[in-house]
Amino acid sequence: MEIKNVTIAGAGVLGSQIAWQTAYHGFNVMVYDAFEEGIKKSKEFHANFAQLFMASRGASQAKIDETLKRLTYTTNLAEAVKDADLVSESVPERMDIKESFYLELAKYAPEKTIFTSNSSTMLPSTFAHFTGRPEKFLALHFANPVWDANVGEVMKHSGTDPKYFDIVIDFARNIGLVPIPIHKEQAGYVLNSLLVPLLSIAQSLYFGGVSDYESIDKTWMISTGAKIGPFGIIDMVGMQTVYNIALMNGTKTNNQDMINRAKKIKEEYIDKGKLGRSTGEGFYKYPDPKFIEPDFLK
Ligand SMILES: NC(=O)c1ccc[n+]([C@@H]2O[C@H](COP(=O)([O-])OP(=O)(O)OC[C@H]3O[C@@H](n4cnc5c(N)ncnc54)[C@H](O)[C@@H]3O)[C@@H](O)[C@H]2O)c1
Repeated sequence: MEIKNVTIAGAGVLGSQIAWQTAYHGFNVMVYDAFEEGIKKSKEFHANFAQLFMASRGASQAKIDETLKRLTYTTNLAEAVKDADLVSESVPERMDIKESFYLELAKYAPEKTIFTSNSSTMLPSTFAHFTGRPEKFLALHFANPVWDANVGEVMKHSGTDPKYFDIVIDFARNIGLVPIPIHKEQAGYVLNSLLVPLLSIAQSLYFGGVSDYESIDKTWMISTGAKIGPFGIIDMVGMQTVYNIALMNGTKTNNQDMINRAKKIKEEYIDKGKLGRSTGEGFYKYPDPKFIEPDFLK
């Protein structure tokens, strides 16, 4: 089966990036959002990505024009999926929204359409039965920003037909990702299974007074050869997400230390507008954080 027509459902932060990346790699893309406001924002994102790709990624005006021509926008789901080979879903991370979205999608999508979810925290098996086609349903998880952090984690649930798993792996490769096959369900996929514990321990070392954040980053960078340490990564991910995860995991496991850490992140960083790289300051100051200085590791 050849994938030509792709529908991106949910045109927010990630959906807009996925739509752009997919159109840029030559696929016809329908951008669907339930709200006009979502479509408006997505068009703004795409205008910005066009500038970004020309300014810093060597894209020609002709390539940008072709990319924009391949993007169509709609708030009508039936219209959005009428000829879709593959749907990539990025609606908000809420069970009730995902459930009603898949129930609706199942009504309109033709038989051939493969459904993929970009959910970061929900396993495909939790909503496979709403799709009406569990064998053609799996996760294709993107990282942010899609073009720089270009891994595509492809994860099946026990009812996914291996044929569609392989098709989605090929699709991921064809839109410029390095596909990571995940053969059984794993909360957090590979990336977050590694990253969330690392960032959590780093916070515990720092907020627990064991060491300072620069020394913790230096230790990690010197010892592993990494270009960035845990606190540099936290700035990249953004304090709001780090706070949400610490609060959620702390509450779930009744871990008071973790909850206190979340509070400190909120008081000392979020409330002061230091959200990380996106606002120019988190643990480090941007665009030239200390950890990229040649002397940092000395
Ligand atoms: N933000 C990230 O860095 C990131 C990274 C990887 C995966 N994800 C996943 O992507 C998904 C979306 O996250 P996001 O950060 O892009 O969210 P977002 O809030 O930026 O975007 C969600 C979009 O969905 C639209 N929407 C709301 N209800 C809808 C519905 N019923 N049908 C269609 N569209 C609807 C909203 O208008 C909005 O445009 C989540 O599952 C999240 O776990 C996010």
